[in-house]
Amino acid sequence: MAVDSQRGELPPIELDRASGLPLSRQIAGAIRSAVSGGALRSGDRLPAERSLCRALGVDRMTVARAYEELASEGLVVREVGRGSFVRGRTGKASRPHEAVERPMRWARAFASRVGQVNHPFGALQHTASQDGAINLSSLYPDPDLFPLDEFRAALNSVMKREGARLFGYGSAEGYGPLRKYLAESLTRRGAAVTADEIVITNGSQQGIDLVARSFLDPGDPVVLEDPTYTGAVHLFQAHGASVVGVPLDPEGMDPVALDDLLSRSGARLIYLIPNFQNPTSGTMSLKRRQHLLEVALRHGVPILEDDFGGDLRYEGAEQPSLKALDIRGEGVVYVGTFAKKLAPGLRIGWIAAPPEVVSRLVALKRVTDWSTSPLLQAALHEFCARGHLDAHLDRVVSIYRQRRDAMLGAMRKHFPADVRWTRPEGGLVVWVTLPQGVDAEETAVEARTHGVLVSSGDLFFIRSGPRTNLRMVFGQAGLADIEKGIRILGRILDRRVREADRASATGTAESLPVL
Ligand SMILES: Cc1ncc(COP(=O)(O)O)c(C=O)c1O
Repeated sequence: MAVDSQRGELPPIELDRASGLPLSRQIAGAIRSAVSGGALRSGDRLPAERSLCRALGVDRMTVARAYEELASEGLVVREVGRGSFVRGRTGKASRPHEAVERPMRWARAFASRVGQVNHPFGALQHTASQDGAINLSSLYPDPDLFPLDEFRAALNSVMKREGARLFGYGSAEGYGPLRKYLAESLTRRGAAVTADEIVITNGSQQGIDLVARSFLDPGDPVVLEDPTYTGAVHLFQAHGASVVGVPLDPEGMDPVALDDLLSRSGARLIYLIPNFQNPTSGTMSLKRRQHLLEVALRHGVPILEDDFGGDLRYEGAEQPSLKALDIRGEGVVYVGTFAKKLAPGLRIGWIAAPPEVVSRLVALKRVTDWSTSPLLQAALHEFCARGHLDAHLDRVVSIYRQRRDAMLGAMRKHFPADVRWTRPEGGLVVWVTLPQGVDAEETAVEARTHGVLVSSGDLFFIRSGPRTNLRMVFGQAGLADIEKGIRILGRILDRRVREADRASATGTAESLPVL
């Protein structure tokens, strides 16, 4: 279908209805490719929603969702009464006569692997900042709980003590006292490591990045739980790795499927989130940890253990980390972070790894960014050494436990009988499973129009997801907002479940043979 302007042309869109990928995603993807491939340019008008939905044989909401997705990424501007336009460089859609030909076709200049990088959380973050909305979507700790006074005092104290030295480049491996503090705290939890085996990183995201770059060449398979943390999936893909998902059961990744995969795939890395998994909230059983470690060691494939939220535990006994179970220190690289238990904006995480892995990671860290901020590392260490982190954890664990209980209680009260959800032992999310026939993405879109933000589960699946899950976060909203948000979502689900029941009853009737 041609766009209405003289300049660019939207190539025909082929929808694959059997792929399981939401049609709105397919439409947004086709438009994105048309822009990156140069078929559509800044200022080009997209087809009117009505005509595109007619041409593609989809409903209007599907096209509206695709346009909304592109608008929230900033690729498209929607102008009331005029239509939707490919965004110009100024951030405003330029009209055709204002457009200037660009000499460089950047889309052609990009490396092919980065063409694939399009993290959906850019869109989610945009959505999450919607004014006044109840945010049950962003997996962040509540910023209002950050102990500002204690952190300020720690910062002042290290600046006084260490002065301008903290404003120079730090060492690539990290601030010594913080490395020591982290080594001791891991050792107390059963994983005996020394400070030399710790590397401080800019968030655990950089930890995952350094590990990916150390172990993966383009095209190498990496095995992940399916579903999993999208930030890791997109990062591995940005390195050209091929991501392979292994399904989860209530105890964790299926070890038989993993064994089978490692026998035939040439996988180079296994990425696991054993505690309060993102997005399913599950905790891997001890038996499963031992089994997966045994499989990985037998095949000689390293495990990257992401313990992003292990400290936020509300009930049940703590399980030993894979790093702790790997007694001979042969097979596990562990990443941790202060992002969820304290503040993501510090951008401080760490890696614990065997010494020969550490030297590789440190060399890579040095060429990437020299070091993590020495000032913030020193302040954070002072904060922890004064006991403020432990006090903060005591406080937030009790608040988040209340919020979890409020969310579970409200779900019991307001959700239709066929909806299922997890009871997380810790972390900040509940994983909800809707009855067949109730579309999670449409539910999330409708909830947003009523001021409640939740994440559709299909964002997190590597293979085409079943589209019946929602990930609900209880870290950000207060108790009253949790109750209100779930009540609103419950009303939406009540109606959608009734509609799905009616549709399946009609479907059954239609499929009866006509005698
Ligand atoms: C499972 C998981 N790992 C790692 C990260 C990245 O955290 P950081 O802020 O430490 O980079 C996140 C962020 O949400 C996450 O969910």
